Amino acid sequence: MSARPLIAPSIIAADPARLAEAARLAESAGADWLHLDIMDGRFVPNITFGPATVAALARVTSLPLDVHLMVVEPARWVQPFAEAGARVLTVHAEADAHLQRTLASVRAAGCLAGLALNPSTPETAVEYLWDDLDLVLVMTVNPGFSGQAFLPSMLRKIERLRARAEALGWPGRIEVDGGVDLARAPACRRAGADVFVAGSAVYGSPDPAAAVAALKAALA
Ligand code: DX5
Ligand code: ZN
Repeated sequence: MSARPLIAPSIIAADPARLAEAARLAESAGADWLHLDIMDGRFVPNITFGPATVAALARVTSLPLDVHLMVVEPARWVQPFAEAGARVLTVHAEADAHLQRTLASVRAAGCLAGLALNPSTPETAVEYLWDDLDLVLVMTVNPGFSGQAFLPSMLRKIERLRARAEALGWPGRIEVDGGVDLARAPACRRAGADVFVAGSAVYGSPDPAAAVAALKAALA
């Protein structure tokens, strides 16, 4: 069985000129984590922000910072983002030929270690890494932009990961990211996800705090 569901608003969907406000809003609305999408214009066709912005956000919120690295050569960025205040640090399976080493370095830096899978990457990419992982992130859109449509075929991937995690007695979390809203989140929960990233479903809403509350209620 998956653990208590956690809501992680993604500030990629907030006004980039008001990120501090977006972080405070998530916290006061009862969110569990703050999801921070780091894009380098190479692994994905978009650029967001870097460690200095993460460090600035760490100063304005006490929410655990859930840092999702969509960058090439993620190993180079483990230390800078750990020092910036990441609590969870997730790297992409497709971005690194030496994942076990990189994930071990994430834990050595004091963070929880996450592995993200693009939609086309099979769940078997995790198979020899379970012991090095605290979290698996299932991308339910192709990474790069918020506001894209959820890919329903990813529900099967979540189910397979959850089944494997239970067979192994793995204690970590399965996170779902991309196009997750009030309509999609319950199916992800039933499939076995227990961390729910929501960008446009929260910050694209006229009342982001109410959107967080509605997601919590729908998953309770
Ligand atoms: C996609 C990012 C996501 C996403 C969240 O590359 O990793 O965190 O943008 O935004 P929504 O919920 O709008 O898809
Ligand atoms: Zn993300």
